[in-house]
Amino acid sequence: MALLEILRYPDSRLRNKAKPVDQIDAETRQLVDDMFETMYEASGIGLAATQVNSTKRLLVMDISEQHDDPICLINPEIISKEGEEREEEGCLSVPGVHEPVKRAKHIRVKALDRDGSPIELELEGLPAVCVQHEIDHLDGKLFIDYLSRLKRARIRKKLEKEARQADD
Ligand code: NI
Repeated sequence: MALLEILRYPDSRLRNKAKPVDQIDAETRQLVDDMFETMYEASGIGLAATQVNSTKRLLVMDISEQHDDPICLINPEIISKEGEEREEEGCLSVPGVHEPVKRAKHIRVKALDRDGSPIELELEGLPAVCVQHEIDHLDGKLFIDYLSRLKRARIRKKLEKEARQADD
């Protein structure tokens, strides 16, 4: 397994739109395994392929504290949404930023798992938020897109400054 580089906002590659995976081959499963390793290493609860510069439409997540509940969703599709909630979100591609975002409270999502078997999950609360956040990534969208332009501009400035300091 290998750790992958996580792209950081404002990297334009985070705006790439993912393409459906038509064959879950060894390369795809390797990507999934590397994404889990990368996510755990970064103490994240979710990671979309877009964030590691892949255009495969897949995501991984694990909201358990013991890292023992890995979920891999390939070609995920939200088939129903209900209710509304506003929870604080963060993102490995936008480090150090936490802001509330409005999302559906309950969702039903269908996808393929790592072996290519169809799965359907009914989620609410944090796992539901996480899936919506990660699917946004696959569509080239970030949680800060829901914030005001002014707030986004401030975040951009802060992260660009941090990137420059890291280069020095
Ligand atoms: Ni994210």
